[in-house]
Amino acid sequence: MTLPSQKLMAASRKAAARMANRDTPFIFDEWYVAAFKEEVGRALTPRKLLGKRVVMYRTEAGEVVAVEDRCPHRSLPLSLGRLDGDDIICGYHGFRYDSNGDLIEVPSQKNCPRGIGVKRYATAERGPLIWIWMGDPATADHARLPHQEWFERDDWRCTSGYFKHPGNYVSMHENLMDLTHLSYLHAATIGTPDYAYAPFETQLEEGHYTLLRKVVPTTLSPVWGKTTGLDGCNTAARIVTSEFLSPGLHRVSVTLYDSALSESARKEFKIATAHILTPEDHSSMHYFIVHGRDFALDDEKIGEFMHESLFAAFNEDVDALGALEKVLDDVDENHYEISVTSDAPAVATRTYLKRRAMAEAEARQALAEPVVINFQDTPAHAAG
Ligand code: FES
Ligand SMILES: [Fe+2]
Repeated sequence: MTLPSQKLMAASRKAAARMANRDTPFIFDEWYVAAFKEEVGRALTPRKLLGKRVVMYRTEAGEVVAVEDRCPHRSLPLSLGRLDGDDIICGYHGFRYDSNGDLIEVPSQKNCPRGIGVKRYATAERGPLIWIWMGDPATADHARLPHQEWFERDDWRCTSGYFKHPGNYVSMHENLMDLTHLSYLHAATIGTPDYAYAPFETQLEEGHYTLLRKVVPTTLSPVWGKTTGLDGCNTAARIVTSEFLSPGLHRVSVTLYDSALSESARKEFKIATAHILTPEDHSSMHYFIVHGRDFALDDEKIGEFMHESLFAAFNEDVDALGALEKVLDDVDENHYEISVTSDAPAVATRTYLKRRAMAEAEARQALAEPVVINFQDTPAHAAG
């Protein structure tokens, strides 16, 4: 085996430098899912999101509160304290914080210091999910909330699940952008051998990257064949769109039908999966999944079978990307990767993530720059 030339290695590194990887700063000015709605109630619920410790709860009126999970007195996690009405009482020395995160009582003294508190994050509850804006709450842009209306449609049925995923969120976006891997990583669950060879089209719009794959004719794996009645049909069509919608959300939409029948005679079956990726830190993430179908709405057996089969497949991704993450721990100066044609949307996604992350990081840096006052130029100094 010939080793790659220095030229190829240099080109690979140059391309990689433009793409996000697990070390790229996070994009904070964006909506991510913090939890499924039923996870947050009248208990203090801690979760690390984008490297930040956050504690969530509901007020007595049911409103979701998410604040920084660290008492500014001596840094005990507030999640180790308790709720008193809508306030958190720190479990160490009893400082009291209201639901805005403001410190309102210090038990050991009469006067409470003013202007002290913890950050309260902007949140939005939509359908089964609680979203959180990880940047400045004053800039939270509700128009950018990537809520999916099919989560709540009466003519769709959804199930959901969660993995604590031992890999970074950039690798998972990349995994989802090119489903060539269905034929290999998921050969035993949802993939078929012809999937990887099927023609595809890509669309690269700023912030919206798509790969559309048409596998026609094909035979369907049991998860789709058995649930649609197309089992054993060797003229089935499987049309799959993978879409990057935001740093926290990727959607896969699938249409299945018998291609031997005319458009008017055939029945189409639609499936969608929201892959909801919230970094925990740079090498792990919260992987929320909502999966929906527009058929067999009241058939619980079909729903359970589909859910189990799909989640077995998603578990294969979790295992594989967990193994990949360990390899990334060991990269050395000879590390390089190559990209092929079907990687184009993934490369565009990673380039977009890097661009946004660096723009945000630069803006943060500019804000953090100390203001330098040149006293030598002041009249007072000149006079003295
Ligand atoms: S650490 Fe919270 S009150 Fe002291
Ligand atoms: Fe996969």
